[in-house]
Order: sequence, then structure tokens, then C-alpha cells
Amino acid sequence: MNTRTYAVIGWPLGHSLSPIIQQAAFDAAQLDATYVAIPTPPGHEQRRFDEVRKGDLSGLNVTIPHKNPAFHAMDFLTEAASSLGAVNTIIYENGKLKGDNTDLQGFLDSLQTFGKFDPVGTNAVVLGAGGAARAVVHALATCQPESVLVANRTLRRAQELATSVTEIRGTTIQASTLDTDQLEAQLSKSTLLVNTTSVGMAGGPEPDKSPVNPSWLHKNLLVFDIVYRPTTTPLLHAAKSTGAKTLGGLEMLVLQGAASFKQWTGENPPLDAMFSAGWAAVSSNQPTGAP
Ligand code: ATR
Repeated sequence: MNTRTYAVIGWPLGHSLSPIIQQAAFDAAQLDATYVAIPTPPGHEQRRFDEVRKGDLSGLNVTIPHKNPAFHAMDFLTEAASSLGAVNTIIYENGKLKGDNTDLQGFLDSLQTFGKFDPVGTNAVVLGAGGAARAVVHALATCQPESVLVANRTLRRAQELATSVTEIRGTTIQASTLDTDQLEAQLSKSTLLVNTTSVGMAGGPEPDKSPVNPSWLHKNLLVFDIVYRPTTTPLLHAAKSTGAKTLGGLEMLVLQGAASFKQWTGENPPLDAMFSAGWAAVSSNQPTGAP
């Protein structure tokens, strides 16, 4: 049997960690497969989808800016992809292209397994309103928290995201900017704070800053920063010094990748090998990049 080829497509792809983590998984599972990064400019993604149909590629991860075009190009979608309007994993199933979004599962699995956190009935704050925030807010909303405040530099984007999930029964979802009394008040009663902005990310716009006023943090919080490089961001550093519990972004990255691996192969993902490869890569000095 021929070696199977899987790939991540995006533009720009930078130093994506997915090839390192997925290749470690295929090797540990002793599957005859390679996983490559294919930088794909906007407008050229359809060619990649066709390659999956033809069998030249066995499956894809999709990242910015192709998550939405992929959503429109699939034959069918999972519930997660359909609720987010974005696809990050393409599976070829019974002659059809299936689009999934494993960000949602990756977030919930890491929150529960590594954060030991159950969102039911809790108050939470999500910083940011981009694609990652969308996955986080939709994931939280499925767990029936009491309230979620989406706080973002650009209020309009936070409002749009909050409005997109208000149909969830029993949860209040509100929006604010990053410097309001409303955010301070919500944080004081919250037990979960999730950062999805690129503030604090190595190579990002403000690598030395916390996205939120550090004096608003407290010891009853789980602070989850989905940024994975550096492993301790300025936000996590500030959180640790208040005695809050912390969780970095590598767990979510590996677990969303593990969910893709499971869909493509049907096998249980070799998590130890995936984490070892991921930790080694984030501890190296490479600049950051796409998932
Ligand atoms: P992704 O899809 O990865 O979430 P994105 O859509 O580019 O990426 O979103 C990046 C997030 O980081 C946004 O919430 C952005 O805020 P805006 O909506 O106001 O652009 C936030 N962000 C980026 N740079 C920021 C900065 N310097 N200060 C505060 N927030 C910032």
C-alpha cells in the first residue's frame, strides 16, 4: 500500500506545529503516512480539496484564511463545523468530503482533562472575538454556564460574537471592551478566564503585555491562555502570582490535532508522543506560526 499523505493548508503557514505533532502521531502509531505543510495562497484552496477527492491527499487540516472557504466547499459537515461556520479538518468518507472543526472539542477536552474545570453554572470571561474566540464561546455555551462576557478591543466584533450564541438556553452572553468596569465586575465573580487574543504571544503585536489588567486577576480563577508560545505568557505569569490556576495553549493544540488524527485513522491518538513532540517544539527558539 502507498504511503498516505496528510497536510495542513494555510497562508502564511509560518512555523506550523501541526506537521511535528501529527508526524509524531503517525510514527508512534506505526502508520505508513507523512504529514506536510502546504502553503496555499487565498483562491488556491479548491485545488487541495480536489486532491483529497482524487486520493492524492488523504486528509487535511485547514487554517487561516481557508477555514470559511472550506466550510462552503464540503459535501457535509459535523455539528461543530456547522455551528462555527468554519472547518479545520477535512476527512474523505464514502466518496464525500466531510468538514469538521476540532477546535471546539480540543478546547473542552483540555479544559476538562488538564484544567479539571466543569463550566456548568459558572461565570466566565473570554478575551478576543476572532475565530479562536468563536470556538471557545460556542464550546462553553454547550456546557450551560451561568454567564459569559466576551471582551474584545473592538466592541462590534465582541457584540457580533455574543449575539451569535444568545439562542443557548439559560446562559447570559454579553460583550464589552477590554478596559471596562463591566469586565472588572464580571472577572471578580468568574472562575474561568480564557485568552484568545494574540496579546502576549511571541512574535505577536504585544509580546510583553497582558491582554487584561493584571490587578483584576484573583486566586479563584482558572486562567487559560490558548497562546502556546511562550509557554508562560505575561497573562499566565500574572495569574500564577495571584495563586490562580493556569493552563497554556499547547494542550488545546495537541488535543484538537488528536481529534483530527482519530477522524482520519480511526485509531486512538498516541497522546504521549504528540505531547513530547509539541513540548520539544515550543521549547525551541523557533518563531511562532499558524496551528
Ligand atoms: P483568530 O482567528 O486566531 O482568533 P483574529 O481573528 O485575528 O485571530 O483575532 C485576533 C484577536 O486578537 C482579536 O480579538 C483581536 O482584537 P480585534 O478584534 O480588536 O482586532 C485581538 N488583538 C490583536 N491584537 C491586539 C492588541 N494589540 N490588543 C488587543 N487585542 C488584540
